[in-house]
Parts: sequence; C-alpha cells; structure tokens
Amino acid sequence: MCGIIGYTGNNKAVPYLLEGLGRLEYRGYDSTGIATTQGNSINITKAKGRLSVLKSIIASKKQSTSTVGIGHTRWATHGEPSTVNSHPHLSRNGLFAVVHNGIIENYKELKSDLQKDGYVFRSDTDTEVIAHLLERNYDGDLVSTVSKTAKMLTGAYALCILCRDFPEKIVCTRLGSPLVVCTGDEGTFVSSDTLAISGHADKVFRPKAGEIILLAKDKVSFFNKALKEIFITPEKLTLKSTDTDKEGYEHYMLKEIMEQPEAVRSTLSHIIKNGRISFDSFSLTKQEAEAIRGIYIVACGSAYHVGVSGKYIIEKLTGIPTHTDIASEFRYRNPPVSKNDLCIIISQSGETADSIAAMKKVKEKGAKVLSLVNVEGSTISLSGDYVIHTKAGPEIAVATTKAYSCQLAVIYCLGVYFSSLLGILSEKEQSRLIEEILSLPETIEATIVATRSKAESLSELFTEKEHAYFIGRGTDYAAAMEGSLKLKEISYIHSEAYGAGELKHGTISLIEPGTMVVALMSDENVFTKTYSNVREVKARSARVLAVSTKKHEHEISSLDHCIIIPDCSSLTVPSAEIIPLQLLSYFTALKRSCDIDKPRNLAKSVTVE
Ligand code: M6R
Repeated sequence: MCGIIGYTGNNKAVPYLLEGLGRLEYRGYDSTGIATTQGNSINITKAKGRLSVLKSIIASKKQSTSTVGIGHTRWATHGEPSTVNSHPHLSRNGLFAVVHNGIIENYKELKSDLQKDGYVFRSDTDTEVIAHLLERNYDGDLVSTVSKTAKMLTGAYALCILCRDFPEKIVCTRLGSPLVVCTGDEGTFVSSDTLAISGHADKVFRPKAGEIILLAKDKVSFFNKALKEIFITPEKLTLKSTDTDKEGYEHYMLKEIMEQPEAVRSTLSHIIKNGRISFDSFSLTKQEAEAIRGIYIVACGSAYHVGVSGKYIIEKLTGIPTHTDIASEFRYRNPPVSKNDLCIIISQSGETADSIAAMKKVKEKGAKVLSLVNVEGSTISLSGDYVIHTKAGPEIAVATTKAYSCQLAVIYCLGVYFSSLLGILSEKEQSRLIEEILSLPETIEATIVATRSKAESLSELFTEKEHAYFIGRGTDYAAAMEGSLKLKEISYIHSEAYGAGELKHGTISLIEPGTMVVALMSDENVFTKTYSNVREVKARSARVLAVSTKKHEHEISSLDHCIIIPDCSSLTVPSAEIIPLQLLSYFTALKRSCDIDKPRNLAKSVTVE
C-alpha cells in the first residue's frame, strides 16, 4: 500500500506532486505529505486525512517555487494515521527526507540500535529508521549511502529520498515494492505507478530490485548492486492523462461499471483472432496440456472469486482437477503442488503481496505459473512463466468491477483453450463457445441497460439494513461471494455469502422476518436446488431478492423482488449476473452517502501481507 512520487525538472514541483498523489490515492488515503528542496533546506508539509486536507494547508501558505520534491499517500501499517506518522520522514539533523512504500521487517532491531546511538524517534513508523540510517551512513555520496542503508533493511520497500546536500537530485531504490521512473520534456519523475505521471512523460524505466536510481532534472542514472552504472532501455509510456478522468461520472466505480463492455472487448481482441483462441505469451502443446495433473488458482478478494468461478468452469470443460485458494492461506500451508501442476495467479494490480508470495511458493515447488494481470509491468506480470494481460485499462475505484469482468472473460477462454487442446471439444463445439465468448461485450451492455434502474430502485431495500446474505450454488456461489464483498466494502453493510445448500448447516438460524437474502439463480444446473433453498428462507420470512435469467422470470417473479438478466449461454452467464450486483452495491452506497471510490480502511493495491 501507500503511493510515492517524486519530480525534478525546470517546472514547479508541487503541482506535479499533488496531481500525482491524487492519482495514487487509490493505494492509501489516511494521510499525505510532500517534501521539497529550496536552496539547501528541505521543507515538509504533511497532514492526517485525505489529500484535500494537505491541499488546503499548501494553498494557505506562500506558493513554493521549488522544482524538486517527493510525496506520499499513506495506508497505515506501523503507527496510527496521524500527521506525525505521515511521510516524508526527516533524519535527525534534517539532512535526508524519505518517502517509503512497503514494510521494514527488522525495524525494531534497527530502531533500538539507533536509539543506543542517541537517535530520538518522533513517529511510530518503520520508515523513520531509514531516514536516520541514511544520515548515520552518509559518506558524501548519495548512491553509496543508499546502497549501504538498503543492505541493512529486510522487508519490502520503494524509497524516494531527498538530501539537503544535493537539492536538485532525488535518489531511489526498491525491493519488493513497485517503482517506475519516467522522463519527458517536463522533467524526470518517479512513482509507484505510471498512472500518477501519465500525460507528463513519454518514456518509462522499470528498475529491478536492488538497483539505485539517481534522478536529475534532465538525466537518470541507474546503478546495480555493485554500484556500477548500468544502462536501461526505456519503454514508451502510452497512458494518456485522460485515462484517469471521471469523464462526467460522479464516481470512478460507476464509470468503470459502464466501461465493462469495452474493457472485455479489448481483452478478447488480444485473445480471439480469426475465431481461434491464442494468447500472446502463453501456449501449451497437446502433450503439455495432457501432462497437467491439476490447476491451482490462487488470488485474493475479488480475483479469488473469479478463481472460484474458474474452478467450476475449467473443471466442467476439461475434467482437470482445479483448486482455488486464497493467497494468504495458500502461502503458509504446504500445498501438494508439483511440476505437473499449473498455477494461475489472478491479480488486477499485479502487486498484491500475498499473491506474490504464493507465486514464489509455487515456483519453488517446480510448477509453472501463469499470471493473469491487469497492470502491465507489475511484479506478478513480470514474474510468471507465462502472462495474460487483461485490457481493462486503469481501474481507480477500490471496488473492482471492470478488471473482474475481464478476468472472468479470460477464464472462459482458458477453459475452452485447454479443452480444445485435450481434444474434449469438437471443432464445432469450440466455435460455438468462442462465439458465445465473443458476444460478451453485447451481453454485458444489454445487462447494464436491463438492470440499472431496477438495481437503483431496489437498493432502497438495503439502505437501512444492518445485514444481508447472498446465496447461490455453482457459479452462482462465486457471484454471491463477489456480490456480498461489493456490498460490504463500499456500503459498510454486514454481508455474507453462502453456498445455498450450506445455509441449513448453521446460518439459517440468523434468518428472521425481513432479513435480506439475495438469491443468485442463474446457474442452470442448480436452479431448482437453489429454488428449494429460497423456499426455506422464505418459510422463515426472509425478504428475498432473486437474480436470474429471463428464462426463469415466471418462477422468480413470485418472490419478493427480482432482477432479470438477459438469457445468455451457461458459460458466460456469470459475467451478466455480476452486473446488477455491482449496481446494487453502488446505489446502496450512494444512498448511504459512503465514500464509494475510497472506502474506509481499504486500498486498491494491497502490498502488505
Ligand atoms: O490487485 P488484486 O486483484 O490482486 O487485488 C486483490 C484484492 O485486494 C481485490 O480484488 C479486492 O478484493 C477488491 N478491492 C474488491 O473489490
């Protein structure tokens, strides 16, 4: 979590820092701060709360003319959100200012060692040790000082550092946390991601772990661990500044819900060409596909829910045993993964710490890893044996919507791809399924049109509720999990998802007259089974909102409330079913006046375990 940014150039630094922090707020937003150099002094402004608080403090002061600065937006790990704990942190004599994304695991040992030397700590953060260590290790050379300091740290970090003795420079390094360096006519930038800089630079460098980067206004120098200067070829930075606009929508979440047809279309256009499925950076031979003993899908949060759908879909199409795991659990058990298994890591950000750790574990066991990632150049995207990129574009709202839909679309493609390789599907069946997948953008579009206003009016049912339950079987169970997470994360209504058949093993005791139950009933295989479970909660006077396809309109319209999605194929129905659930959550949160794009306590990119 946390977002960091730095700028050095000929223009004023503060506007770039504030704009960049605004675009990085999705990474954390409980406090913010900036440091700029002016002559040989470092000026720091920081504040608890959203960026708007920092902006108003800065607006009330004399405008800074500094052309060099660093900034930070925080998601607290060590120390509560407060002004004193917010970054940048200064070294004892104010020689260094540091912003940090990550966690220093050995900070307690380092802190007590520094305290023995008389260093007094102002904050409760792990980051402050870095500032003091830099000062203690300072030898007049920025690169060697940072190198020596970095060698003392264990954990994960991306660091941007200012030094009073070199007021025009910024020095950076990273290990385990992301950092990009971008250059262009406006100057030299460094940030946690390219989004923060889009529109201001046209080249991007992606430093490797352990490298040290020295930024000057018109030059960037990279040094390897041996402090030898190395030369890196930049990539073209293709993001435009408009990629981060709300384009008239009140919230990014609604904008991103509406972008789903296009995002899925773009994702599929890279995978299905001339009616055949082929991935740019992933392919297997028939023999390799036949040798797969099992598939492990590992992910967190919504990406895990895609994996739950994936288990049903891939097993049904291929017969390959498919296991879906939460990365934070998977990484600490001893899963029986072997070189004959394929592991699929799903992640929007590509920086989720638990998913990265799970990936390492799988690789140690010799299995091949396929990364399914939205952010190109992210750690997970670069570390797999194979990678498939979803083309959702930047997703800014903390609650994922369009990345989820793109991941689901890729899962369908993978199921059909494996099944075709294994010779399970005939050419004709294969073409039919590919046609169904290709019609996804229209299906999603039609579902948005068909369900938006109903979801908006039904959201009224939830606004005063304290609890809600989502039930379903098969892929409906995965949708129930995702619908429930969407509702709770942005509207703060307590909500749980259950396999519909599991209710009677305990949870049904919570059903009282008026309890809201959202029943997902689009998985054709289990419709009648879920219907029986709905009757059971109805018999206990629950208030049921059922979601199903047009085909079942007649059966479900006798329930308290229903949302009808267009008829679509059994393969792709999870993509349609999730739409009204996203909209329902959005409108519920809107009516409850919640901070939809930045829900409390959360961050978009979860880079701590
Ligand atoms: O970036 P990732 O896809 O790895 O993130 C995983 C989860 O943190 C994420 O899906 C989270 O659950 C969403 N905010 C839910 O909307």
